[in-house]
Amino acid sequence: MANSSFLPSRPKIIFATVLLIFAALVAGLTILLPSTGSKTSGTALIGGPFTMINQKGETVTDQTYAGKYTLLFFGFTFCKDVCPTELQVMTAAFAQLGADADKIVPLFVSVDPDRDTPAVMASYVSSFDKRLQGLTGSPEQVAAMAKAYHVFYKKIPNPDDPKDYEMDHSSILYLMGPDGKFLKYFAYSTDAKGLADSLQMVLH
Ligand code: NI
Repeated sequence: MANSSFLPSRPKIIFATVLLIFAALVAGLTILLPSTGSKTSGTALIGGPFTMINQKGETVTDQTYAGKYTLLFFGFTFCKDVCPTELQVMTAAFAQLGADADKIVPLFVSVDPDRDTPAVMASYVSSFDKRLQGLTGSPEQVAAMAKAYHVFYKKIPNPDDPKDYEMDHSSILYLMGPDGKFLKYFAYSTDAKGLADSLQMVLH
């Protein structure tokens, strides 16, 4: 926890790259899959109903955000590099968007509900864009939402401290439309300007 650097370590970069390739494959398949005779349309494969608790302790569902774009990132507040880096990119992109950013609700979704209580989430999200909301819930609620968004996460015990652990997790940003349907994803490598430009194109 004494790590003062936000720079991703090499294993983290390799891990993030592998996930990125996987997400690209999933997204590619999603777009290419024909919906012949199936009730599941391609884009329905990412996202769906969820019930979680926001940073104010209120129950929220996918319907809470109906009519707004949502930009989702799954992670955990104890994350030393990937999460704070991505949320800083998001915050900078929202600053570039100006008033247009009000059309989007950014959501930071915890994959570490044991430590990420609503109070912890409230303190954490306050360091980033003022629109950022933090979602957590029971382990079952978190698992269900992560599954709906095809997000991988796994607890990695700290060999030096049995009470401590890291969470490996997918590092993809998902943009969902006002109808709750998947629109596009952004790789971890997307910079603030690239993200803002892309979001602007969707909004106009
Ligand atoms: Ni993280």
